Amino acid sequence: MASKKSVYVAMSADLVHPGHLNIIASAQEYGEVTIGLLTDGAIASYKRLPFLSYEQRRAVVESIKGVARVVPQETLDYVPNLRKLKPDFVIHGDDWRTGVQRETRQRVIDALGEWGGELIEVPYTQGISSTQLNQALREIGTTPEVRMKKLRRLIEAKPLVRVIEAHNGLTGLIVENTTVQTDDGIWEFDGMWLSSLTDSTAKGKPDIEAVDVSSRLNTINEIMEVTTKPIVFDGDTGGIVEHFVFTVRTLERLGVSAVIIEDKVGLKKNSLFGTEVDQTQDSVERFAAKISEGKRARVTDDFMIIARIESLVLGKGLGDALARASAYIEAGADGIMIHSKEPRPDEVFEFCREYRKLDYRVPLVVVPTTYATVTEDELADVGVRVVIYGNHLLRSAYPAMVRTAQSILTHRRCHEASADCTPVREIITLIPPPRCGPDPQTSGNG
Ligand code: SPV
Ligand code: MG
Repeated sequence: MASKKSVYVAMSADLVHPGHLNIIASAQEYGEVTIGLLTDGAIASYKRLPFLSYEQRRAVVESIKGVARVVPQETLDYVPNLRKLKPDFVIHGDDWRTGVQRETRQRVIDALGEWGGELIEVPYTQGISSTQLNQALREIGTTPEVRMKKLRRLIEAKPLVRVIEAHNGLTGLIVENTTVQTDDGIWEFDGMWLSSLTDSTAKGKPDIEAVDVSSRLNTINEIMEVTTKPIVFDGDTGGIVEHFVFTVRTLERLGVSAVIIEDKVGLKKNSLFGTEVDQTQDSVERFAAKISEGKRARVTDDFMIIARIESLVLGKGLGDALARASAYIEAGADGIMIHSKEPRPDEVFEFCREYRKLDYRVPLVVVPTTYATVTEDELADVGVRVVIYGNHLLRSAYPAMVRTAQSILTHRRCHEASADCTPVREIITLIPPPRCGPDPQTSGNG
C-alpha cells in the first residue's frame, strides 16, 4: 500500500479562527498534516509579538482535528523546514499571490520543485482575519500579568527591542499605534520608557527626583489605561533601599515589566550633565545590596530589575564600568544599562565588546540620546538587546508648542498658527468614544 503523502502548513495560530480550521481540513485531504508553527522570534521579525506564547499556541494547534504533529518554524522563510521535511504538499490560502508574501510564496514553489512537491492554494476564508481579531483584542486591552511578561518575551524573540519615551496618555497612544511600512517590513515600537526627565519636564519640574513616586505612578496609570505595550520604568536612584522594595512591589503589581535604577546617591541630577554638576556614584557594595533587596521583594520572576551604570558618564572609565557590571549581575540584576553622554558611540561599543567576554551576562540596554547617529543594526551587532529613545516625543513637541505660542503673540490672532496645528475635525475624532450601550442589531430581541 502506498504510504500516506505528507502535507506542510505554516501558521502563527495566535487567535485560531475558522480560516485556520478550513486550511487544516483542506490539508488533511492531501495527506498527513504537519503544522510549521511560527516561533515568537519568526513572528516578531515581521509583526507584533503574538498574544499567546509558543507553548500555548502549540497546545491549541496540537489538539485540532487533523493535525498529526507540530514543529517549530524558526523563520518567516519556509525553506529551512521544507528542505528538512521534504513534504509532498504545502497548503496555503490563495491570498499571498500579491503583496508582501509574494516572495515567500515563490521561495516555497522553488524549494518544492527540488523534490517534486506541490503548492496547493485554497480559497481564502472571507469575513474573518487575524488582523481584525488583533485589533478587537487591542480594544479590549491587556492584563497586568500579560503586559509585564511581554518585555522578557520580546527580548527572547527579537534581536533588538525598541522602546521610546511616553509621559502621558496621548504619547502612550502614539507609541502604541504608530507604524511605518517600508520595503523591508512594518515597523513599530515594542514598549514605553517612563523617563524621569520627560515625566518631570511635562510637569514643569527639574529631573531631580522632585516628582515623587506616587505622582510617577499616576503617569503610569494614565498610560496603562490606553495602551497594551510593556513599560520600562526609570526608577532614578531607586531611593533608599527601604523605599525601593515598596516601589518594586507596586510596579510589579501594576504590570510594569522592568525598573531601571542608576548607581548614584545624593541629589540626583540628569546624567547628560555629566561632570558639569556634582554627582556622586554609589559604592558597588551598597548598590549591589539595593539590587539584591529589590530582587527579594519581587513576587514573580517576571519583573526585571535593571542596573544602570554611570561610570562612563562620570569619567570613571571602562574598567570601573565592567567591574560594576559583574558585581551587579552577581547581585541579581536582570539587565545592565550602560549610559554614555559622548557624541559618538565608541565608548559604548567598547564596553559592549568587553562585556561579551564576561562568563555570565544579562541583556544590555542603551539610551543613545547624545550618540544619536548610531543605528539599531550597529547596536544589535555589538550585542545590545534593548534600545531606549529616551526623550524624543517630548523634545519634538516642545519647540512646536513654543512656536505656536510665539505665533499667536506675534500676530495677535491664531490664524497663522493654525497651519501647523492638527485640523479641528481630526483632533475631535482622534480618540473615539468607547463602543458601549445596547447593540442596535440585537436589542429588543430578548
Ligand atoms: C531619562 O530619560 O530620564 C533618563 C535617561 O534617565 S537620561 O536623560 O539620558 O539620563
Ligand atoms: Mg532619568
